[in-house]
Amino acid sequence: MRVLVHSNDDNAWCDALSQRLPEAEILPSSVPATQRGKIDYLAAWQPSAELLSALPDLKGIVNLGAGVDALLNNPALPGGVPVVKLRDAGMARLIADYVRYGVLHFQRDFDRYACQQQNRHWQPHEVVDKTDWAVGVLGLGAIGRKVAEAIAADGFPVHGWSRSPKQLDNIACHHGEDGLFTLLSQVRTLVLLLPDTPATRGIINANTLAALPQGASLINPGRGPLIDEPALLAALGSAKNGTQGHLRGALLDAFPVEPLPEDSPLWQHPRIRITPHMSGPTPLGEALDQVADTLRAMSRGEPVETVDPEAGY
Ligand code: GLV
Repeated sequence: MRVLVHSNDDNAWCDALSQRLPEAEILPSSVPATQRGKIDYLAAWQPSAELLSALPDLKGIVNLGAGVDALLNNPALPGGVPVVKLRDAGMARLIADYVRYGVLHFQRDFDRYACQQQNRHWQPHEVVDKTDWAVGVLGLGAIGRKVAEAIAADGFPVHGWSRSPKQLDNIACHHGEDGLFTLLSQVRTLVLLLPDTPATRGIINANTLAALPQGASLINPGRGPLIDEPALLAALGSAKNGTQGHLRGALLDAFPVEPLPEDSPLWQHPRIRITPHMSGPTPLGEALDQVADTLRAMSRGEPVETVDPEAGY
């Protein structure tokens, strides 16, 4: 099999994949189109339309990340070619740590103390017990499920929501539109781990934000387009005098446009913490094992778990 690799660091991926797949010929996407020959498989993160349209013989694509939104929205994605994405591959535990930090940030009042420090103001706040701090996780895929389990193991009551019904130990699982609003009304921190699909875009809007209890907080390590940004800003209250609105604060790692543009009002908002899409960098070793196993299985005609382009994940 001949595999073309396209990533932020083609050479590292090519070397490591060649070691795992000695039977394959692995080429970086920097090889000029005229010298590539017939390519059977593409292992790529956000390939350009130009690259995709130059690969007419593809039998399969491995997405070098968990989210397939960019790939599925690529106008040159060939129809009928199976796409396999990374599932967890070590990202879930990193994202679970990010969410742990975020939940504690609000539950232990670090947001308030940061504000107080600016004003040299010394005032401890009473701790709300973890058992009274319910956390909601929207999206119970490979990552959302592990994050929900990690937060539950830390002692927080956890509610999870997915499109179709799911059952998980120690998680109150909800599904469908009604289930979403049932979850929202009960959680003090809401975590977004849904894929970006036509069905989830703008799921956090004026209606859903208003369904959260007064003073709830939001953590988004998922995808930027899940949030209607003007609705979020309105719910957070005034950026000028810091007056709290319905929502207490937001910790955001993903944005519709990345890097977040310099003129975005999110940067300066006192109730928003911003991180540069760092919650779940793909650990190379585990991802490479998964990519190698997938390519080997596809080349042998063995079954692989493929992305459903209609559902978008
Ligand atoms: C990163 O955002 C990924 O989808 O892997």
